[in-house]
Amino acid sequence: MRSIAVVNLKGGSGKTTTALSLAAGMARRGIRTLLVDADSQGNATLTMLDGRAADPPTLGNVLLGQAEIADAVRPTRIAGLDILPADSRLADAALLLAEHLGREHRLRVALERARLPHGVMVVDCPPQMSLVTVNVLAAVGELIVPVDAGIYSVSGLAQLRQTVADVRAYLGNASLRIGGLLLTRTHNNRATKDIADQLRAAYGPLVFRASVPHSVRVEEAHARNLTVAEFAPTSAPARAYDDLLTEVIAHGDQQPGDSVAPLDADPTAAAAAGGRAGRGRARRRAG
Ligand SMILES: Nc1ncnc2c1ncn2[C@@H]1O[C@H](COP(=O)(O)OP(=O)(O)OP(=O)(O)O)[C@@H](O)[C@H]1O
Ligand SMILES: [Mg+2]
Repeated sequence: MRSIAVVNLKGGSGKTTTALSLAAGMARRGIRTLLVDADSQGNATLTMLDGRAADPPTLGNVLLGQAEIADAVRPTRIAGLDILPADSRLADAALLLAEHLGREHRLRVALERARLPHGVMVVDCPPQMSLVTVNVLAAVGELIVPVDAGIYSVSGLAQLRQTVADVRAYLGNASLRIGGLLLTRTHNNRATKDIADQLRAAYGPLVFRASVPHSVRVEEAHARNLTVAEFAPTSAPARAYDDLLTEVIAHGDQQPGDSVAPLDADPTAAAAAGGRAGRGRARRRAG
């Protein structure tokens, strides 16, 4: 099973919106998909369960060894999309987990044991480095990092690079890779263009070609507990997420680890090597 975590420790960068759109889009394209809500805010759960909180068992019970994953997974209104839900009790579970053996690897072990039938798993991460986040990082193959064009921070991405190195070194997940950086909430103005240029100069091959424009449709969709593609399928953000999906699916056959190097590299060197040429071109050259 391919496994993708949507992460960024910066709050409000578009993680949940991206995880929902990716997961629903994968299912729409015929790939049986599991959406894992790893955030005690439970926003992804509420959206996919029509505004209702999830009954136990949820992810917290799985992490504490009180339930098998298969018993906590349930279908959603979207055909082919199941959810492993979260609710506010996940925060307590994360604290309790600290007392348990194997605390960092419980999700990975539970997934291995479950042998789920899904083709892909998409995880919505919280904006904190909690034990739940650590469990996700230990369990997945790749990370997608939404970067809000308005709050882009170089230091935040440097921190991510360190996190990936630490996960590889200390959590035994040596093949974890950065699947890509996604610019979100972009505007058609100079400020967004400058940030996009900076990001592509520094991380060229890692930045998705697709970027998601700021649109009130996203908030309107979430207010109705719908994904943006369900609420406004022809809107600019829905089309952008569909473009992202095409890229993510196309890049699914890469070798593990091949896209982490540019994050480790000197950003100026990445730019000199053709970072501005964009992700697709750099990939073809590399391959
Ligand atoms: N492209 C967009 N245009 C307009 N609003 C957006 C867009 N993407 C996300 N939002 C809104 O921005 C807010 C934050 O988005 P989201 O919940 O996806 O971020 P997050 O990274 O998951 O936040 P948190 O760190 O709190 O989990 C939400 O209210 C969401 O509806
Ligand atoms: Mg979120």
